[in-house]
Amino acid sequence: MAPRYLRFLFFSAFLPGVAFISACKPGIYLKQQDGDNLAFTTMTTIVDDDFIHMAMGPKQIALGNLLFFDKIMSGNQNIACATCHHPMTFSTDNLSLPIGEGGVGLGPARRIVRDGENPVQERMPRNAPDLFNRGMKSFKTLFHDGRLSTDYSQANHFRNPAGEALPDGFEHALEAQTIFPLTNPTEMAGHFGENAIAACADAGDFTCLWNEVVERLKANSAYVDLFIDAYGLDSADDITIVHVGKSLGAFISASFRADNSPFDQYLRGDDSAMSHKAKRGMEIFYGKARCVECHSGVLQTDQSFHAIAMPQIGPGPGGNGLDGHDDFGRERATGEQADRYKFRTPSLRNAELTGPYGHDGAYTSLEGVVRHHLNPGVSLANYDLSMAFLPSGGSLDLIDPIVLNDFLSKAALIVANELQPVFLSEEEIECLLAFLRSLTDERSMHLGHLIPSSVPSGLPISD
Ligand code: HEC
Ligand code: HEC
Repeated sequence: MAPRYLRFLFFSAFLPGVAFISACKPGIYLKQQDGDNLAFTTMTTIVDDDFIHMAMGPKQIALGNLLFFDKIMSGNQNIACATCHHPMTFSTDNLSLPIGEGGVGLGPARRIVRDGENPVQERMPRNAPDLFNRGMKSFKTLFHDGRLSTDYSQANHFRNPAGEALPDGFEHALEAQTIFPLTNPTEMAGHFGENAIAACADAGDFTCLWNEVVERLKANSAYVDLFIDAYGLDSADDITIVHVGKSLGAFISASFRADNSPFDQYLRGDDSAMSHKAKRGMEIFYGKARCVECHSGVLQTDQSFHAIAMPQIGPGPGGNGLDGHDDFGRERATGEQADRYKFRTPSLRNAELTGPYGHDGAYTSLEGVVRHHLNPGVSLANYDLSMAFLPSGGSLDLIDPIVLNDFLSKAALIVANELQPVFLSEEEIECLLAFLRSLTDERSMHLGHLIPSSVPSGLPISD
């Protein structure tokens, strides 16, 4: 082993144009190749203080844990945050597009139910992102299109879908984000005529909706005691939706922290933590393949938005393109046509575990989405729906390929695409994948301890 490893160090340190120089700790210096220009960036390691829950107490985290698993939070009391962000499926659901309110089952076994009292009316339009490291302060922008972001020019400090109706008191984007899943009819609120929360959602009245959720929690004496204890309140009257959001944010931050991968260990100075293959892949990622142009920094994201011709599948979030089924991405948040088809660069931490990939889960395999990047035009042309994972929804299935089969939409995706094709040998692709797998934190594979044995509402948690 030793000679090979030494050879790597020799090349890294002395050959011009090679991507890596490992120098002063705690960070390492990465040398990026940009045509003939070489640029240096420093990469620092992740530390405790990067996470928002460090300023919160264990009682707030424990309360967030119960709220995360309790279906009491949804209009029809039939779905919880955990349904789509379950620890056993690595804080996502392993489906291309989630099955929201009205569905039955967990993870890949979840089914669409079209009859009964609260039938599923459509698939969710976007892939459920994982929640790893979302409690880091550097995540100031959330959702695939970034429609919630920290912005101190706003009175409540956030640019967000509820505008001024978002109450004051949130400090971090994650805390504020957690109260939005409650407001979406397909996700958690339910549909018009089904319950009081859904009625507020139908009227577009966020304040009414969040008050209804809080009233439900106030009617449960176990929750009242937990909120009073966690936040030092005088009485149930003092409980607000801000306490709910802060608790959920604290729980997510503390529980889905993933900063002990072989890559992290390497950054902290353990040269043997990554295999030779993964190191080669790292060199390709930061050099020849130019992944770093968007997947930069210690989380492999520039926290910005790019168009990469990801195939469009599913019902779409509404109002865009052919029959309203396209998804214009970032343009939906900014109103700028130049932002059409741009989506937030995802962090690649734990990417091995968190498929399907892309804003609509178009690719179930990590290799599939990586190969898409290498030649987006060809990949889009050859794409077919069997590369996604969409449990059947009867007549809903007819909607899934509508935009994909539309020539004009595909052409527009190609025009907007920012990715230049990159040629890599099969061996180089293998190394690149080995690097991505070195971003997996072993601890994230053992999160069963986050599942509570019961929740205060008494509603089931096993489905
Ligand atoms: C029906 C499935 C579903 C449920 C239930 C659900 N989510 Fe999500 N979640 C999603 C989807 C889909 C997105 C992405 C939506 C988008 O970007 O437009 C998302 C996005 C998020 C994000 C943003 C992540 C990021 O990186 O941008 C957070 C945080 C989150 N959800 C937390 C929660 C919490 C907390 C709850 C419960 C209150 C919850 N979710 C309930 C499906 C779900
Ligand atoms: C021009 C910017 C850009 C470059 C360069 C780029 N990516 Fe991406 N990547 C993105 C964006 C944006 C997405 C999400 C697209 C979407 O949601 O539709 C993405 C998605 C991914 C995903 C799926 C992650 C997930 O959780 O869904 C992987 C894996 C990935 N990229 C790896 C790579 C690799 C490896 C390279 C280098 C070969 C690379 N990317 C180069 C912008 C880029």
